[in-house]
Amino acid sequence: MSDKYAVIGNPVAHSKSPQIHAEFARQTGQDIVYTTLFCESDKFSEKVEEFFRRGGKGLNVTVPFKGEAFKLKEVRPNDISFGGVVDAEAVNTIKLVSGELVGYNTDGIGLVTDIERNLGFPICGKRVLLMGAGGATQGVMHPVLEKRPDLLVVANRTLDKAHNLVRRFQQHASFTLRGISALPYPDLAGAQFDLVINATSAGLSGAMPPLPADIFAPGALAYDLVYGRDTPFLAFARHSGAQRAVDGLGMLVEQAAESFYIWRDVRPQTAPVIKKLRG
Ligand code: ATR
Repeated sequence: MSDKYAVIGNPVAHSKSPQIHAEFARQTGQDIVYTTLFCESDKFSEKVEEFFRRGGKGLNVTVPFKGEAFKLKEVRPNDISFGGVVDAEAVNTIKLVSGELVGYNTDGIGLVTDIERNLGFPICGKRVLLMGAGGATQGVMHPVLEKRPDLLVVANRTLDKAHNLVRRFQQHASFTLRGISALPYPDLAGAQFDLVINATSAGLSGAMPPLPADIFAPGALAYDLVYGRDTPFLAFARHSGAQRAVDGLGMLVEQAAESFYIWRDVRPQTAPVIKKLRG
């Protein structure tokens, strides 16, 4: 019988993960089935328990349950080799290992793999601006810092949240040459960045953070974690001198590949899947 995997979320019907994992399984000859699992907002722990009781081997966790999955006492966070699940305080991948549930976070690795390998843009030595101070930002901070940028600035509308996040990550400031700091958007005036990452949810409502027009250094990459739509940020970046403006589809496929590797110990090829999804 095929090994069972699923993505649990609310909403989840729109998820591309079943398609991505089906491609990975076909490509690597792995015998798995991967489905979506809708979960009412107050039923997360019961659903997870039921899934594994019925023989499930692994879960991806998506909005809005990643934080709850981290807090679940049945899930032991793994923080040895995969992307700082403890720093992220969020779990997007659960694996059943010898009767125990182990939690991982592959979002940040997915992002840096897409930026560095697929887009050929090394983060080392770059000035990085990360917009937003919510769960998405927290999930990618550690893996971005590990790539040793020149500096990392976290900008957020609500400045306190950016300050809190930066304080939490000060212990990793030595990864950077010039440190980590928090700024409100107006204070970005006059500054330039090589890599600008939009980790806000602004694009989902057709908005964008208030960026100064000269924010992009020559050769800059603009990256939006949102995928499948041309956000106002990406349009702004194209018109304001960014060399490239890219959505988060590559990150989605790369984080899935990392989950697949954790579960199956086989690395799928991501490039053909990204190409296929882009259509
Ligand atoms: P997620 O888990 O996706 O990060 P979240 O925790 O709700 O979601 O965080 C959303 C982030 O997008 C926040 O940083 C939010 O800014 P505030 O902390 O000031 O609320 C940011 N955000 C959402 N809409 C925005 C907008 N129109 N302009 C700027 N920032 C926005």
